[in-house]
Amino acid sequence: MKNRKLLLENVHIPGIETFDIYRKNGGYRSVEKALKSMTPDEVVEEVKKSGLRGRGGAGFPTGLKWSFLAKPEGVPRYLVCNADESEPGTFKDRYLMEKIPHLLVEGMITSSFALGANTSYIYIRGEFMYILHILEKAIAEAYANGFLGKNILGTGYDLDLVVAPGGGAYICGEETALLESLEGKRGNPRMKPPFPAVKGLWGCPTVVNNVESIAAVVPIVNDGGDAYAQTGLGKSTGTKLISAGGNLVRPGVYEIEMGITVEEFIYGDDYCRGIANGKKLKACVPGGSSVPILPHYLVTKTLAGEDRLMTYESLADGGFASGSMLGSGGFIAFDEDQCIVRNTWNFARFYAHESCGQCSPCREGTGWMEKVLNRLEHGQGNLRDITLLEEINKKIEGNTICPLGDAAAWPVAAAIRHFRDEFEWHVKEREVSQTRNYGLITQPSVEA
Ligand SMILES: Cc1cc2nc3c(=O)[nH]c(=O)nc-3n(C[C@H](O)[C@H](O)[C@H](O)COP(=O)(O)O)c2cc1C
Repeated sequence: MKNRKLLLENVHIPGIETFDIYRKNGGYRSVEKALKSMTPDEVVEEVKKSGLRGRGGAGFPTGLKWSFLAKPEGVPRYLVCNADESEPGTFKDRYLMEKIPHLLVEGMITSSFALGANTSYIYIRGEFMYILHILEKAIAEAYANGFLGKNILGTGYDLDLVVAPGGGAYICGEETALLESLEGKRGNPRMKPPFPAVKGLWGCPTVVNNVESIAAVVPIVNDGGDAYAQTGLGKSTGTKLISAGGNLVRPGVYEIEMGITVEEFIYGDDYCRGIANGKKLKACVPGGSSVPILPHYLVTKTLAGEDRLMTYESLADGGFASGSMLGSGGFIAFDEDQCIVRNTWNFARFYAHESCGQCSPCREGTGWMEKVLNRLEHGQGNLRDITLLEEINKKIEGNTICPLGDAAAWPVAAAIRHFRDEFEWHVKEREVSQTRNYGLITQPSVEA
């Protein structure tokens, strides 16, 4: 059975949020090992070997991203931790930072050393003010114990770590909008290239990584990249934090070893223990609100009939026709009583509200989608609205500076693809649809 824990193993130890207890349980070993016995390039090499892929959503290889960092003479480099976590359905970074803040602080020190950064930032969602205070306390303890500041552990390496509150918008989690916001400006995404690795914070080379990616550097350096690569499955190495919500018996944050089946995750005793109230599963969003929804018959099996696994590859199997994405690990289960049209409208409302307005396809398109879905949901739509939604989608997808537009379009496209009958029912049975839900859908014999 695959159930190794690399990040949350010690999370339930009383007092683990304090420096002393964290240290007594093996904390800060990666800092000692990296700073005293490795070169920065050796640390980067271990991260490359580990196969770690960014946990913020896109799954880009972390070691490769680090190796792109430009190193011009006399110019500072920055590491910025993305702790903005605003994706609906995703609440794993919050859990990690709240329960075991020193794991992130340790990861930041080891990673900053590898990247040659002497000032690093944790950009934390503004609404997480209470966690900002938890992190500040952990950082103060690290300074007091010689793990931050000048000449860390007598090695000659200096690092200051700053926690910065976010701008209060979902878009500030997009890495270039985050950098704008961190510089004190409105969080509008930047045109790329240049990428942050060349021109990032204050115009200097910068790496932006998710909280969980940075925390994973700790076990990678402690045990070696090869050992990390042996956990998980194939190119989905290591463990992944999954925030499970919706109609589950036991929602919560789980650290899974990549490669367990989705079925085990939903129904297994160690995980979510099935659908709440004895209901049936209708659909699932496996990776946060931005990824395509899967109807129940594609949740635990792929279209080819293979077990669906909790890996980047298996969840994407079938492309957008019959697959989805692991994304940020925000797993939302919907039972048979949930209305897909209502949920799609709900997500669309979020994206319309959060679009920064810089690109017209996203600014206008997300608003139109919200309006059309609103009338469909409230029994005022017509059949043409469904194709209109598909047309708006195509106009947004791929036509914006940042992927917020795609993130708004994909869930709507997938909902219509798999649940078209339910959308049409909202038009044909408009009165009935205001009093009850559509219920379960059956698997079409041939997937369109
Ligand atoms: C609209 C939008 C919001 C995002 N929000 C977050 C976020 O809250 N946290 C995060 O780590 N990445 C977020 N991302 C992805 C980041 O742009 C970036 O890819 C990520 O921080 C890189 O870290 P990683 O390589 O460790 O995954 C967001 C992307 C978009 C387009």
